[in-house]
Amino acid sequence: MTLTVVPDISEGRPELDVLATYRRHFGGGRASVGQLLGGMVEVGSSGAWIDVQDGRRYLDFGGYGVFILGHRHPVVTAAVHRQLDRHPLASRTFLEPVTAEAAAALAGTTPGDLDLVHFVNSGAEATEAALKLARIHGRTSVITTNKGYHGKTLGALSVTANPTYQDPFRPLLPDITAVPYGDAGAMAEALSKTRGTGVVILEPVQGEGGVVLPPPGYLRAVAELCTANDAMLIVDEIQTGMGRLGTWWGIEAEGVVPDILLVGKGLSGGVVPIAALVATPRAYAPFAKDPYLHTSTFAGSPLACAAAAATIGAMRDEQIVQRAACIGAHLLREMRLACAGLLPAGLVEVRGRGLLLGIEFEDPGTVGELALQLLERGVLSCHSLNSSRVLRFTPPAVLDDDEINQFLSSFSAAIAAL
Ligand SMILES: Cc1ncc(COP(=O)(O)O)c(C=O)c1O
Repeated sequence: MTLTVVPDISEGRPELDVLATYRRHFGGGRASVGQLLGGMVEVGSSGAWIDVQDGRRYLDFGGYGVFILGHRHPVVTAAVHRQLDRHPLASRTFLEPVTAEAAAALAGTTPGDLDLVHFVNSGAEATEAALKLARIHGRTSVITTNKGYHGKTLGALSVTANPTYQDPFRPLLPDITAVPYGDAGAMAEALSKTRGTGVVILEPVQGEGGVVLPPPGYLRAVAELCTANDAMLIVDEIQTGMGRLGTWWGIEAEGVVPDILLVGKGLSGGVVPIAALVATPRAYAPFAKDPYLHTSTFAGSPLACAAAAATIGAMRDEQIVQRAACIGAHLLREMRLACAGLLPAGLVEVRGRGLLLGIEFEDPGTVGELALQLLERGVLSCHSLNSSRVLRFTPPAVLDDDEINQFLSSFSAAIAAL
């Protein structure tokens, strides 16, 4: 047997070793992406910053919606340290207080009678759980939206309406219809065919679809159509929730209370992965009756729940939701002004709500170029999995004025360099 010694990544020129190790053990694709983005090796983080091996720091406006509290928020890390030293994983035999505390804290943020919580480990798992819950209620005809993103496990992928990710894995779940997002008429037509077997899944603003804001009143119209057609409604707030849009939940803007709300990303506090489904008593009833219908060994662990409960507490104490609204509005205004002054070629629109911001170009190549220009200026951004023409920004709500100004000057310079 040959032993491979992987060097300590804190010494020497580790990026070469890490790259080679990636190539060897994760395959060439991921290694090449890392190489294309400069081959940097990240080794630390705090607040709005990611530290790389050579001592440089990057302002994290990427993060795919996870870091609403920034990296390693002290309240969250302290709670996680305490839990780690006391009781990280539960027996799953006895009752456990931290899981209960996190559920109560989460339900305290959701509107209406969205009070019943089922913790899972990832966003895709939350979608799986929601689709299964709908099926127990006989809602097997699923309506999703074009470019909607709900995860990549097999059930979730069935409603992630993007042929690039779906086609290699067909056949997927049957009886799925994808309708144009934002088009209440198309939703009405699709729902009219379901005859009491329908369930709709959609996002309040499409994130991976490229920061697509529906017309005002759309969410409310969909909720009313679901009621009229005896269909269930699942609103996926895995990306838009936890304050990202400048409200705790995107559904608040239109006073909608779905049967099931999906939560993820920011719930982790950026520290320990956790996601959840939050449902009304009626929707949740089958899971309440049989708690073993849908389970997962690590779901709702005390460690992850300590992170979630501390996250919600810190968000309340530091008015993170209000900060997201305020900083987001400022960034959007300034980014639009920068683009208007510099008139980048092929710009379609700068748009967003709260701290979910996007810039759309006619040509996907320009998106890649802007991401690289920003990287050169020390700023991370995120591409959009379901829209190659949109570069996304999902910064934390803990940015200070210097960080905001640093981003805006890098953004203007990157736009000018296009
Ligand atoms: C709206 C939405 N739903 C579901 C998911 C899937 O979450 P995860 O990647 O944690 O499985 C994502 C991830 O980007 C998302 O944005």
